[in-house]
Amino acid sequence: MHLLAALTLFSSLSASVLGASVCNGQAALCTRKYSTVTFIGAHNSYSVGQNLANNQNKDITSQLNDGIRTLQSQAHTASDGIRLCHGSCALQDGGLLVNYLTTVTSWVKANPNEVLTLVIVNSDNQPASRFASAFSSAGLDSYAFVPSSPQASLNDWPTLGSMIDSGKRVVVFLDNGADASVAPYLIDEFTNMWEDPFNAVDQTFGCAVNRSQASPSSTLMLVNHYLDTTYMLAGTQLWVPARDKLNVTNAASGYGSIGAHVDNCKAIWGRNPNIILLDYYDSNSNAPFALAAQLNGVSAPTNTVVPASTAVVSGSGASGSSKASGTAAAANVTQSKLNGASRVGAGGAGVWAAGALGAVGVVLGAMMI
Ligand SMILES: *[C@@H]1O[C@H](CO)[C@@H](O)[C@H](O)[C@H]1NC(C)=O
Ligand SMILES: *[C@@H]1O[C@H](CO)[C@@H](O)[C@H](O)[C@H]1NC(C)=O
Ligand SMILES: *[C@@H]1O[C@H](CO)[C@@H](O)[C@H](O)[C@H]1NC(C)=O
Repeated sequence: MHLLAALTLFSSLSASVLGASVCNGQAALCTRKYSTVTFIGAHNSYSVGQNLANNQNKDITSQLNDGIRTLQSQAHTASDGIRLCHGSCALQDGGLLVNYLTTVTSWVKANPNEVLTLVIVNSDNQPASRFASAFSSAGLDSYAFVPSSPQASLNDWPTLGSMIDSGKRVVVFLDNGADASVAPYLIDEFTNMWEDPFNAVDQTFGCAVNRSQASPSSTLMLVNHYLDTTYMLAGTQLWVPARDKLNVTNAASGYGSIGAHVDNCKAIWGRNPNIILLDYYDSNSNAPFALAAQLNGVSAPTNTVVPASTAVVSGSGASGSSKASGTAAAANVTQSKLNGASRVGAGGAGVWAAGALGAVGVVLGAMMI
């Protein structure tokens, strides 16, 4: 009995004093710096469905339960607060940021040994204070990690274990408008992390620097591993997910795969990416997550990612004719929204969607990210 009591005391002490013993599902990740871990992310995580402007099949909670550990989103100005929309809220409206963050808070609370990253595109250059109020209303600010300096180099990042122990385990990047004096947990993306090109239509991908405001060799690496296809709408070129190639794009190896993209990064930069953003990440079941585990040098996760039944996934299930009609129906939806898009003109399409003027132009800018 005494031994049992002592063991019980020891195990509770080890949890509270010695720190987390499992971090993001793996003991070995507890001692690893955040900057040396690879996470799988959902590109336009809030944009769920099969329209042209959508990128995911499953809702945020399902994404997190499946193993997604980076949620990327695009924020727009709306009269009722910040909304998450793909390009324009008339085209695709993923709802209020505060509701999205509230969902994230619930999951984070229920999963105390997980480190999660949010990457937010501040399309309309809204002030940091507006984001901060959504974070505090959602209760997510109390979990948000504050870096030791507004511009952290790779070595400055703490271990996953220490982030979990401190409770500050949600890392939030804002692509512009971050202001450490307003909210030090809204981390300026491009002085802390660089991205390779988005809108790739070439399956070779690459791993060149596309957006960065610091030295790529000393900052985090985010790769945009989603293949697009170009599409003409009302005489304008749009970039939309190449759904018919998802089985190849989201595979672990082979031409056009995640693994091949990572190999390009390793060849150029000598290290693994930190964040790999995918469209319809569930298309290949566990493949992306097993690959990330392999890159991290840990065993594959034991949960099973079930591809959504509603998915317009590529490969054996999708015949040429069903793909074609799916695309036509999606274009119809997009066209009808464009016709009724009175809110489209308000706000910019994002800092790098230069020249986006008028409804179609704004949609074009939108579809580019
Ligand atoms: C970044 O990528 C976009 C989209 O592919 C491209 O239009 C732009 O020229 C790239 N910028 C740089 C600096 O590589
Ligand atoms: C992807 O699906 C296509 C169409 O069914 C098939 O021909 C191809 O072999 C698949 N590729 C992979 C890597 O699964
Ligand atoms: C597109 O919309 C038109 C008019 O609403 C409809 O007649 C047509 O069947 C639709 N096409 C597709 C592919 O959904």
